[in-house]
Amino acid sequence: MAKLQNVYKVVSNEKLCPRFFRLCFDAPLIVRKIQPGQFVHIRAHDGLEPFFRRPFSVCRAKKYVEIFYEAVGPGTKILSLKKKGDPLDVLGPVGRPFVLPPAGTKQVVMIAGGIGVAPFLILSDVLKKKKGLELVLLYGGRTQGHVFNMKEFKNNGCATHMATDDGSIGTRGLVDKLFSKIDLNSKTTFIYTCGPNPMMAAVQKFARRHGIKGQAACEEIMACALGACLGCSIRTTKGFRTVCYDGPVFDLAEVIFE
Ligand SMILES: Cc1cc2nc3c(=O)[nH]c(=O)nc-3n(C[C@H](O)[C@H](O)[C@H](O)COP(=O)(O)OP(=O)(O)OC[C@H]3O[C@@H](n4cnc5c(N)ncnc54)[C@H](O)[C@@H]3O)c2cc1C
Ligand code: FES
Repeated sequence: MAKLQNVYKVVSNEKLCPRFFRLCFDAPLIVRKIQPGQFVHIRAHDGLEPFFRRPFSVCRAKKYVEIFYEAVGPGTKILSLKKKGDPLDVLGPVGRPFVLPPAGTKQVVMIAGGIGVAPFLILSDVLKKKKGLELVLLYGGRTQGHVFNMKEFKNNGCATHMATDDGSIGTRGLVDKLFSKIDLNSKTTFIYTCGPNPMMAAVQKFARRHGIKGQAACEEIMACALGACLGCSIRTTKGFRTVCYDGPVFDLAEVIFE
């Protein structure tokens, strides 16, 4: 059986906009196995600080594995200093992937907040190959500096709509301002969402009101990422579930967002 933890080489690490970076590493094993929604658990540093690995959604896996990240604390700041050729200690792929939209789906709506857009690029890489699906991305960020270039989504045939809190790009306000783009036919529309919990709670409320089904990719602070420490447990309608092993992808209706 192939090892889950390996050391790979960084291929590139570029700044995409004031807040976001994209790191590529050469991991053919992960490229072969990864499914949209799964993540990798990266050891940012050889020393003790930060002690735990950090989880990142795989954003794309063509020749190399790509992650898209925001430098928010010690782990991601160390990651932002990685250079071509540096070794990268990675555990993965881990977690439960997205399920494909059910038969009869015509419109797939991906609703992302900030860095939560990451798993949707690889999802759109897969969904663009399915005939007869309209792909829509609703993307909310704090400001223009927190917004990812939509070109790659557009190249995948996605209709993209943006909102920023300050209106510096796209519609002013939260991403729920864009919900009018969603086809309310519950038999033919399917939603995927990833982002801050209050945003996903708003998506869940909207989906429930209109009887639309979907999936949510959740985030929680993690230690082992193997379902052993229970540190990443969240409440669901089925009881406590770990984000790393039972998720990160859950049925949208079953997560209790707190
Ligand atoms: C399954 C999964 C996929 C993820 N995918 C991505 C991704 O594609 N790109 C990306 O930039 N980030 C992603 N994250 C979040 C990322 O793991 C954290 O931003 C990172 O661990 C922060 O590490 P740090 O040492 O830089 O900062 P820390 O000092 O550890 O954290 C900085 C701040 O962020 C908060 N924080 C840390 N981890 C999380 C988390 N998991 N959820 C919510 N808040 C958190 C902390 O409470 C603190 O306030 C993902 C998390 C999970 C669980
Ligand atoms: S991080 Fe240990 S169980 Fe999820």
